[in-house]
Amino acid sequence: MSATTLAPSPVKADPRLIIPLDLPTVGEARDMIARLGDAVVFYKIGLELLATGGMGLAHELKASGHKVFLDWKLHDIGTTVQRAASALAGAGCDFLTVHGEPQVMEAAVKGRGTSSLKVLAVTVLTSLTDEDLKETGYALGARDLVARRIRQAIDAGCDGVISSPHEAALAREVGGPGFLVVTPGVRPEWSAKNDQARAATPAYALEQGASHLVCGRPITAANDPHAAALRVAEEMAAAVPL
Ligand code: C5P
Repeated sequence: MSATTLAPSPVKADPRLIIPLDLPTVGEARDMIARLGDAVVFYKIGLELLATGGMGLAHELKASGHKVFLDWKLHDIGTTVQRAASALAGAGCDFLTVHGEPQVMEAAVKGRGTSSLKVLAVTVLTSLTDEDLKETGYALGARDLVARRIRQAIDAGCDGVISSPHEAALAREVGGPGFLVVTPGVRPEWSAKNDQARAATPAYALEQGASHLVCGRPITAANDPHAAALRVAEEMAAAVPL
């Protein structure tokens, strides 16, 4: 536990809005959490922060009542993935990502056991084009591979997938009502697109069937992150009420 304690989790924030803490140090992440205050309840911790003490912050966030998405994107032999998922389930976090290969997904589901940790599959990294997949040796293009892996994720017992807003409708259709469909690449009309080439608005992503949105820089790089988070949450509530 670090010197300062995080404020208790807000009860009013929209739990469908996930803020990625894409920051180099835990100290900077803590400052961002303080600035966002009662506007955000759900945080994503990715590889950069995991490499610099992110698991400690995850424990702290959970202890203060927040929700935590561990974006580990696990990918290894079954035994290793199973043990890692089991260890991570002990942290009491909410979401964990793994790569969408059947062996990997099955092992992660086995590892989390009866814990409440939800296992989400990264179907195909959105940085990969059809050409990249062909070069790697895959016979299918990106969209067909995404569809296949959504079905495999369900067969493996995964709770959901990470999907671009443009594939959210497909994930929702194949996965059914309770399936988690978590979409990054979300940009409100009023924000910069940054490097998100196929960005979509929060309203569009929810209308397409997303259950959760990951929205980073439009909020974290805003002059007033708290106000920006509330604005995104308002747009979400207006499009698809909680
Ligand atoms: O700042 P921005 O909203 O672009 O952040 C998006 C977050 O979602 C980042 O943490 C990024 O790594 C993650 N992500 C993504 N696209 C994917 C999968 C994950 O942008 N296809």
